[in-house]
Amino acid sequence: MAQPQRVLFVCLGNICRSPLAEGVFRQLCERQGANVEIESAGTGAYHVGEAPDRRMRQTARRHGVDIEHLRARQAVAADFDRFDLILAMDRNNLQNLKAIAPTNARATLKLFRDFDPTPGDGDVPDPYYGSGDGFEHVYTIVERTSQALLRQLS
Ligand code: 4NP
Repeated sequence: MAQPQRVLFVCLGNICRSPLAEGVFRQLCERQGANVEIESAGTGAYHVGEAPDRRMRQTARRHGVDIEHLRARQAVAADFDRFDLILAMDRNNLQNLKAIAPTNARATLKLFRDFDPTPGDGDVPDPYYGSGDGFEHVYTIVERTSQALLRQLS
């Protein structure tokens, strides 16, 4: 890939779904030598500065993905100029991002699961208030979709 591509994953808190996507997609890109710059953010500010949720870190670690060092930040309008592709982890966050997108934004804004071969309703379900299984389910979706995303970018 000649040009570096910049991809931003965005969920609500930036402590569960989008940091997992950041970690999984970064590992895939590194393994394939793809020149992609990757970050994640949340549309909410509740968890700014925090590490990913312990349950998400454990799930990632079980699959050999390290997201321990990531820290939550809030998505801002300037992200639409810094990134080529902004991917919302669900439809609510897509709407939240549309609300802060500047006119003439450089970034393309899409749902993450637009790249999923089996996209369901388009949402990566929010695991925060659910049972432990939700985190494993999120991992399965993120892993499958990240593979498909990298194939599209390559
Ligand atoms: P995330 O999950 O958007 O995948 O990071 C959530 C984290 C925190 C909250 C909601 C969702 N919260 O309400 O605090």
